[in-house]
Amino acid sequence: MPCWSPVCDPAFDPIMSVTYLWLSLLLFHGTVHSEPMKKRPKKCECLGGYVDCSKRLLSGFPESLPIWTEVLDLSSNKIRTLEIDIGSYLNLTTLKLYKNGIMSFPLFTSKASINNLNLAHNKIDTLDRISLENLPRLISLNLNNNKLAFLEDNTFPYSNHLRILNMNKNLISSLSENCFDTLTNLIDLKMSHNRLSNLPIGLFKKLTNLELLDLSKNNLTVIEGLLFKGLVSLKTLILRQNNIEDLLDGSFYGLTKLQSLHLEYNSISKISKGWLYGLNSLEHLNISYNRIDQIKGGWESCENLDELDLSYNNLQLIEKNDLEHLRKLQKLHLNNNRLSFIEEGSFNNTPLLQILQMDDNSLAWLIEDAREPFNGLKNLKLLSLMNNKISFIKKEAFLGLDNLKELNLLQNNVLEIQEEAFKCMPELVNLYLNSSSLVCDCSLSWLKEPENFLNLPFDRINTFCGFPEKNRGKSLEDVPIEDFSCYENSPKPIIIIHPESKMVLESQNITLKCGVNSTSPEKINFVWKKDNHDLELISTNHYSSFELNGVSQYSTLNLFNITMSQSGKYQCVASNEFGITYSNRSILSVVAFPVFAKIPGNSSVKTGFTARLECAANGYPPPQISWQKDGGSDFPAAQERRMQVMSKDDVFLIVNVKLVDMGVYSCTAKNIAGMIAANATLTVTEPPGFESIMSNKQVKVGEEVVLECLNYGSPKPKIKWTKNGIPLASSNRHYFTAEDQILVIMETKADDSGTYKCEIANPLGIKVQEVEVLILPLYRSLIHDYAIGLTVIAIILCIVITSGIWISFICKSKNPTSNLINSADNKSLNSSNSKDSGTGESPKRSQEQLYNDCLNISQPTVNVSPDPNLPLLSHGSVVLGKNSVVYKNANIGSLPVQLPAEKLSENIEGCDEVICDKDSVQ
Ligand SMILES: *[C@@H]1O[C@H](CO)[C@@H](O)[C@H](O)[C@H]1NC(C)=O
Ligand SMILES: *[C@@H]1O[C@H](CO)[C@@H](O)[C@H](O)[C@H]1NC(C)=O
Ligand SMILES: *[C@@H]1O[C@H](CO)[C@@H](O)[C@H](O)[C@H]1NC(C)=O
Ligand SMILES: *[C@@H]1O[C@H](CO)[C@@H](O)[C@H](O)[C@H]1NC(C)=O
Ligand SMILES: *[C@@H]1O[C@H](CO)[C@@H](O)[C@H](O)[C@H]1NC(C)=O
Ligand SMILES: *[C@@H]1O[C@H](CO)[C@@H](O)[C@H](O)[C@H]1NC(C)=O
Ligand SMILES: *[C@@H]1O[C@H](CO)[C@@H](O)[C@H](O)[C@H]1NC(C)=O
Repeated sequence: MPCWSPVCDPAFDPIMSVTYLWLSLLLFHGTVHSEPMKKRPKKCECLGGYVDCSKRLLSGFPESLPIWTEVLDLSSNKIRTLEIDIGSYLNLTTLKLYKNGIMSFPLFTSKASINNLNLAHNKIDTLDRISLENLPRLISLNLNNNKLAFLEDNTFPYSNHLRILNMNKNLISSLSENCFDTLTNLIDLKMSHNRLSNLPIGLFKKLTNLELLDLSKNNLTVIEGLLFKGLVSLKTLILRQNNIEDLLDGSFYGLTKLQSLHLEYNSISKISKGWLYGLNSLEHLNISYNRIDQIKGGWESCENLDELDLSYNNLQLIEKNDLEHLRKLQKLHLNNNRLSFIEEGSFNNTPLLQILQMDDNSLAWLIEDAREPFNGLKNLKLLSLMNNKISFIKKEAFLGLDNLKELNLLQNNVLEIQEEAFKCMPELVNLYLNSSSLVCDCSLSWLKEPENFLNLPFDRINTFCGFPEKNRGKSLEDVPIEDFSCYENSPKPIIIIHPESKMVLESQNITLKCGVNSTSPEKINFVWKKDNHDLELISTNHYSSFELNGVSQYSTLNLFNITMSQSGKYQCVASNEFGITYSNRSILSVVAFPVFAKIPGNSSVKTGFTARLECAANGYPPPQISWQKDGGSDFPAAQERRMQVMSKDDVFLIVNVKLVDMGVYSCTAKNIAGMIAANATLTVTEPPGFESIMSNKQVKVGEEVVLECLNYGSPKPKIKWTKNGIPLASSNRHYFTAEDQILVIMETKADDSGTYKCEIANPLGIKVQEVEVLILPLYRSLIHDYAIGLTVIAIILCIVITSGIWISFICKSKNPTSNLINSADNKSLNSSNSKDSGTGESPKRSQEQLYNDCLNISQPTVNVSPDPNLPLLSHGSVVLGKNSVVYKNANIGSLPVQLPAEKLSENIEGCDEVICDKDSVQ
């Protein structure tokens, strides 16, 4: 379109130049005359709809612009204030007013169709809402480098189409919470280089179309949770160069589309799951130049991360799980940290990695001694390890890097490279390596072999030998292969003593020794490592001492007051200018003696209930806990499966407790360091009870009466016998046996009749049972039963004959009679066998039989009998054993009495056997 406005200089349009010259003379005629000495403003230039009035020293809006003006450039003039009635320039869409010194927002007095208003580099301190309302089509507003200090609510008109707002480099220190509420079409918002130190939560709630938010170079210190909520379209967030120390949990929550997050140059010290939460679309994260010293994972939300820049932080180590969840990561920048350790397997989490940048760390160890540190990085194309103090390249160092194209090892001053170190990288195109100290002996001769020397893609010119002396300073290129020979008395350090593995108790002192031979008089530099970390960095309670003995040099590491955390693998690293060597790793196992955490206590439990025994111990390795009963292997509760172990609570339970469970339980805690034991007594209690019911007795005068009060209970019940309410004591006719459970009344008299009571008591209760004993007078028997009379006489006779000699009646099974010892014993032995109803049947057995039996004993069936001189059951007791009973006499101690064999007892029905003492019969 031809441009012929009077203000225009047709510089852009040579064809029209003559016309313009004439026109312009006409236009400025008056001015020239009135102020002839002043500089004349130059004319504007036009090209189509573009009118360039920049740098024309204009102080106001030019008059008579061509009405077709679309773009008007008024930049770099001297406009201070501006009032524009733009009504006639209907097609003006772009107005450039930058670099003028405008003090306040230009006043647009009528509606204008401007899309693009550039007010950068002025001195505007407030926005004018009325003016903005007259710019309903405004799409881009550039206020870069002005003096805005504050944005209040309703700054921007309700209806607007603003998409790009640049307020970089102003003085904004505060923003009202709703100031952006009407900018619902905004796509780019730039507020870099202001003075914002905090932002109201909710500030961005309506900016649902925003894609770029630049808040760099402010003074933000904390990012609160949910600050960016509402920015559902945001793709790029720039927070570079603030003072951010804290990113609170949920800082970036809601930024579901965020792809790129810039946090460089802040003071962030940790990566955490909390602030990374919700960044599911994030592809690019730059946190370089912060203070991060440890990663500790947290990447759960960031599974789409493609590039992570952690350079220029304080990272010292990378642990196995630090990079977990970063399965799509392709570029990782870890350069310029203080890394000295990368745990084996760390890169298993990042299988797609293509670029790994680790320059300027202390990762020598990784190349010198670690086990296949990069194995698994099949996609890696670039690995950079510049300036890591690597002096030795181990042959396995780069194993697994099948597709590596570029390897940068510059600035490491490598001394030794093992053969085949580079063999595993067939794709290698660039190998950067420089050194002035290569040890050019036989260990490096492989490098000079033509097939290696010519094929390895590295710059041979920059690698120089440092040893042997005659080749010092010569480039690899210039040293002939013959000179790469082996040298006796090599100055390289050679380990002669490796530190030994040890096991040690906590709080002990220990020393580890490492020895090296080297012909170099130079002092060997010894470094001790624990689990591949430099000990200096991780421990304080150690010191090392040095010893020199000819060509041998030693370092002794003293660790004192050892703690659990000092368990690990220790290694010494010896180096001098001719080489570096790593010792074997010695394993230091710190063990701790078991100490009880829970000691079992004595307890008392009623039968049928559950006993609870606690026992737990600490120690290292964790002690094994075991239980014993009464110091032996017999453990009824275990055998009867009444034992439950609740390992979680360190409790062991005996359910349905029985009397046999009573005893001393020992808990033993044992580990490699030692063993401790603790005892607890389990007392089982049971209320007293009767095993059988006593029945009433009738005997004739002179006969004996046996009353059995068989009972149980724990503690063993005390038994009290009374007759008609009067306590009974033993006398020459009253005997108590089986621990007072049995009362025998010999040679009854009529006045032995009465009510006999047996009372049993233990702390859990008292029980009583009673029987009537009736002694029938003798004369009645004589009158009515002659035979009985005879029997009595016989018995008397028998007694007379045997006079004071022991008589025992042994009776087993169904029909017990007046048995003295063994029936009682049998019952006590087997408490469940209480079918016996006592001695109620004794009268049925005729005394005649007894007598006959007594007299008829011809064959001695007695194999054991007590001493005939022993007084009958007096002053003694019967002790019940399993297969034997022991009669304990108060005077002479104990004497075993063998129970009769079963067969013997079957011989005679009813009362199976009556044994009289042999001597007594003869
Ligand atoms: C403004 O632009 C429109 C379309 O580009 C055009 O039709 C119209 O003629 C222009 N107006 C002037 C005054 O040049
Ligand atoms: C940044 O903010 C901190 C506290 O929030 C303040 O002490 C410091 O002066 C501020 N710095 C600047 C340059 O405004
Ligand atoms: C991260 O930011 C720093 C500083 O702004 C820059 O130098 C570096 O190139 C960025 N990293 C990436 C991977 O873009
Ligand atoms: C180390 O040097 C000592 C002293 O010369 C020598 O006795 C020893 O054999 C050397 N050990 C090794 C492994 O070379
Ligand atoms: C360990 O060494 C310290 C001093 O280094 C000493 O005081 C302490 O008694 C030693 N402890 C043992 C168990 O030897
Ligand atoms: C040894 O270490 C323990 C635990 O760290 C500490 O309580 C104790 O005082 C230390 N003993 C000495 C001698 O330093
Ligand atoms: C624990 O009981 C066992 C056997 O009952 C005994 O040998 C041991 O000395 C007891 N130990 C303690 C500490 O009382």
